[in-house]
Amino acid sequence: MSAAPTTTGPEAPFIDTLSAEYDSDIHAAHRRARESAFYARTPLGLIFLDYEAVHWLLHERRFRLQGNDALDLAGIPAGPLRDWFGKILSNKEGAPHQRLRRLVSRAFTPRQIDRLRPMMRATAQEFIDSLAERHASEFVEDFAAPYPVRVIGSLLGVPASDFARFHAWSRDLSLAFGSRIASERPRIEAALGNLCDYADGLVARLRRKPGEDLTSALIALESAGGEFLDPDELRAMITVLIFGGQDTTQCQIACSIATFARHPDAWHFLAAHPEHAMRAAEECLRFEGSGSGNPRTALEDIDYRGLHIPAGTVVLPSAPAANRDPKVYPDPDRFDLLREHDQPQLTFGGGVHFCLGASLARFEIGEVLPMLAKRIPELALDGPIEWRRGSLIRGPERLPITF
Ligand code: HEM
Repeated sequence: MSAAPTTTGPEAPFIDTLSAEYDSDIHAAHRRARESAFYARTPLGLIFLDYEAVHWLLHERRFRLQGNDALDLAGIPAGPLRDWFGKILSNKEGAPHQRLRRLVSRAFTPRQIDRLRPMMRATAQEFIDSLAERHASEFVEDFAAPYPVRVIGSLLGVPASDFARFHAWSRDLSLAFGSRIASERPRIEAALGNLCDYADGLVARLRRKPGEDLTSALIALESAGGEFLDPDELRAMITVLIFGGQDTTQCQIACSIATFARHPDAWHFLAAHPEHAMRAAEECLRFEGSGSGNPRTALEDIDYRGLHIPAGTVVLPSAPAANRDPKVYPDPDRFDLLREHDQPQLTFGGGVHFCLGASLARFEIGEVLPMLAKRIPELALDGPIEWRRGSLIRGPERLPITF
């Protein structure tokens, strides 16, 4: 009987996930590697590439989210970023995670999303009106970035005059979830400090004069006679929502428009059939998703499908790779708005850390795509797409379009 391959064996395919080549066409790299194995080695650990393995990893409790391990690797043993990492929902496990998730879910109800619908439509319309007056745009700056900032700001009760400020901070904080944490640490920690101060000021203001927003609903848990978030937890929750709800959605909207620019027939179809908007959004999330599961660390030695994973191994569940697994999605590189999804796409992750804002994000994307398709039907690329480098949240940094 042959020995199970080890994680370091040279027989396993290798993907240089830190290279510019990888960022410019991740799908080709995944496809090549998946031909010989369901996983590959990378400079940062293992990457899982087929649907079955990614789904398994997202649900497997013998791994924990990497949390502080990413900071250990970057040589950051202490400081504000490390303190924050230890407090945010996405880095908690077990009972503390369940508690935070239970509390935020009590406040972040479907009513919060319903409340925002008119604002989302009006905001999208305003941006589209301004776009449609022109014939070309750098779409990230003109739409994909500012639109989700307004949505998440309104969700949390932030006044419109402050949107631009927290947009800049949240953009800098996103660097904490990529491969440049060490070199960008001063910028990340400055942004984090500003966001935390801002969150404290927001809480103080809404404590005096509550609104219908999510922050007020989180504060109201204090007088509801049950569990509630302490001030540190409240600050961490607000900052993670500002960050989690903004950057990912920006990248997803830009990924979707980049895809449609390369598939004009699908764009025209959507303009003529807005009733398929939610299916279109789901196919965009599958075909060019901005999210991936966060890296996990094995808590013990684990054997999976013939692969030996020693305790301490870091494994990334790649949603973009799983979402193009031909065993689950026939002809996976074909963008098909009417594709039936027998299995859910994994861009929002899965298991206990499944994205908290998935319903909001689905609505944001499903709402804006047909509005854009109707107003700028002659969408085309106006130069090369500049993809973001070395980040878990993936998307165009610059997306020049004409219409
Ligand atoms: C298209 C947009 C979005 C994408 C692609 C996305 C993707 C993800 C992914 C992949 C995870 C981690 C899953 C894992 O590692 O298991 C996650 C978690 C999370 N997301 Fe999102 N997200 C999006 C929008 C949002 C929005 C709008 C919000 C907030 C309003 C949000 C808040 C969060 C939070 C708080 C978590 C941590 C959940 C936990 O650990 O329990 N996300 N998201």
